[in-house]
Amino acid sequence: MKGLFISIEGGDGAGKTTQIAALQQWLTSVGREVVVTREPGGTELGVAIREALLHSGEVSPRAEALLYAADRAHHVASLVRPALDRGAVVISDRYLDSSVAYQGAARSLGKEEVRQLSLWATDGLVPQLTVLLDVPVAVGASRVGGERDRIESAGLEFHEAVRAEFLQLAAAEPERWVVVDGTLPIDEVTARVREAVRARLLDADGVATEVDTLP
Ligand code: TYD
Repeated sequence: MKGLFISIEGGDGAGKTTQIAALQQWLTSVGREVVVTREPGGTELGVAIREALLHSGEVSPRAEALLYAADRAHHVASLVRPALDRGAVVISDRYLDSSVAYQGAARSLGKEEVRQLSLWATDGLVPQLTVLLDVPVAVGASRVGGERDRIESAGLEFHEAVRAEFLQLAAAEPERWVVVDGTLPIDEVTARVREAVRARLLDADGVATEVDTLP
């Protein structure tokens, strides 16, 4: 079986964690090796970078972009590519499109520059499928519990820019992206995400596998 790289994107509070858990369970039940990971913080180095980015005081915008890219570079080299090479399905909670939306668009660092930075960092690794869980900013904000990290505290306008950019990225590359309305009931979101993944699995393997017949 060939590896499949899936990223899940969306604003804070879009429901990514819940949906990733459901997807992992389903893929495991159909016999796939599933690696669930996240950015920032999918590796030991990444955990340190995540802490520096989110909970350690001021980070200037270009440093922020470089730190996310550094996390991604190490994540891809040490975890994502080896798993794909083994034939696993890798599900990443956020990937390079988060940098384009947050740093490129919302922080105004330049979408194309930030994208190129990540492409360099990852030696060009782009997911076969990116799912956008789209929710209005106010809905996402109301779901984020507890203390807000540095990015979550960035304000309404910032998060509106992030959402708009995700939608634009999805519209520009429809063959890679699937947009799911994250305000739908959880089970409905799960079903739509599963359909998108099922189609890619069939594409990737080139033959109908048991996923074809599963509920
Ligand atoms: P996330 O792990 O989704 O946050 P949480 O665990 O609190 O749900 O992501 C952490 C924050 O980092 C989130 O606010 C989005 C931001 N982020 C960027 O700004 N750029 C990036 O490239 C990535 C991957 C995340």
